[in-house]
Amino acid sequence: MILKFTGCLVSLLPKTTKKVRHYMSDVNSEILDKMTKVCICKGIPRSTMKRAIENGADTVEKVRKATGAGSGPCGGRRCTPKIEELLASYREKENE
Ligand code: FES
Repeated sequence: MILKFTGCLVSLLPKTTKKVRHYMSDVNSEILDKMTKVCICKGIPRSTMKRAIENGADTVEKVRKATGAGSGPCGGRRCTPKIEELLASYREKENE
């Protein structure tokens, strides 16, 4: 029998402490960041974009230069809006 799991791993751990659940949520988030490609043309994951932003890339141009995103066949048409969203959410988190 093959089981297919499509939900959040944290929901499988009902008796865990709040701290463990928070940790597992962070782990799930990191896994998703590594699996989600922001720049499809170059295969650059969201984790690489976030790392560039955390290391000081505060504009789309700087993120593109640090990661190589935007240099694929589409010329950045697909990934530039996603990079702008990541930058905006990073700024929101900083202002909290
Ligand atoms: S998706 Fe980034 S260059 Fe095309």
